[in-house]
Amino acid sequence: MKRLMSYLLLLLLLSGCAKETTAVPNKTEVKERIHIGFSMDTLEEERWLRDRDLFKESAERLGAKVTIMAASGDDALQIVQAEQLIQLGVDVLVVVPHNAEATAAIVAKAHDAGIKVMSYDRLIKNADLDLYVSFDNEKVGEMQAEAITKLVPKGKYVYIGGAETDNNAHLFKKGVFNVLQPLIEKGDITVVYDQWTKNWLPSNAFENMRSAIEANNREIDAVIAANDATAGSATKVLAAYGLLGEIPVAGQDAELAAVRRIVEGTQTMTVYKPINILAEAAAELAVKMARDEDVGADRKVNNGKIQVPSVLLSPIAVDQENVVETVIADGFHDYDDVFGD
Ligand code: BGC
Repeated sequence: MKRLMSYLLLLLLLSGCAKETTAVPNKTEVKERIHIGFSMDTLEEERWLRDRDLFKESAERLGAKVTIMAASGDDALQIVQAEQLIQLGVDVLVVVPHNAEATAAIVAKAHDAGIKVMSYDRLIKNADLDLYVSFDNEKVGEMQAEAITKLVPKGKYVYIGGAETDNNAHLFKKGVFNVLQPLIEKGDITVVYDQWTKNWLPSNAFENMRSAIEANNREIDAVIAANDATAGSATKVLAAYGLLGEIPVAGQDAELAAVRRIVEGTQTMTVYKPINILAEAAAELAVKMARDEDVGADRKVNNGKIQVPSVLLSPIAVDQENVVETVIADGFHDYDDVFGD
């Protein structure tokens, strides 16, 4: 009887132990849940909300956890937030830099903690960056200028640039001038106004456009704006001067308001960058980076310090002709939102 009791007791103890080991995840299981830190410049524009949501969804689908912080365009705050993410022990840091140069400090701090860094959409300059995932941003500018020069092969052009602190703004502008330069040299086109828009703010773009019109006695023939938010400001100024719909305007991002302007004829074109492809690719690559796997980046982009392994996706030009088969067919916007009242 005594032996039976001890046998039963032993069985009971063993079953208890077994329960305990399955209930508490072991160390490897805990480590396998990859933690990604996503440090964003801003959430002010429509696109960045999409980037945030799609990146989070994609990473979570892959089993990763994502902590997101947005710095509202404040360089110092973005660095503090990145430090917080590093302290949280993220396995990889994905950064949309507000300031291409200032964020190099984030890369150095992350590397000190053994964390790899990906530049998302915008390049971090002069840093030992691990990966850059974006669109072909020079191509974006080329598409804008190609569309506008087709309509206005000769005349006075206004260029409303992006934020000087954003490397993309330089690439967009380079692309525009790749196309304009030969026409400028031929004497067909004159760029009568060319300014950056501080912090990409629509209010600054509004002032730029006003100065452009005032400085040229209202005699301008075409406007290329670095994105749809700045193009929106340009159209407001054109409206105030009674020129809305008279002068071709290019933008970028395929924001809903811009696509609606295209349909009503007050903006000529935009450039659509399928954010879902960017966000999904970035999430997959971030997980690979965290696992120290090969990311298979096929391109290299010089960031002033190194040749950064890069993945560059293709943008798509959108005008009245192809709105339906591009942004609507892709589900980027709903038909009713674009064509509704
Ligand atoms: C992005 C654009 C965006 C702009 C302002 C750029 O770096 O590529 O899509 O409109 O920043 O946020």
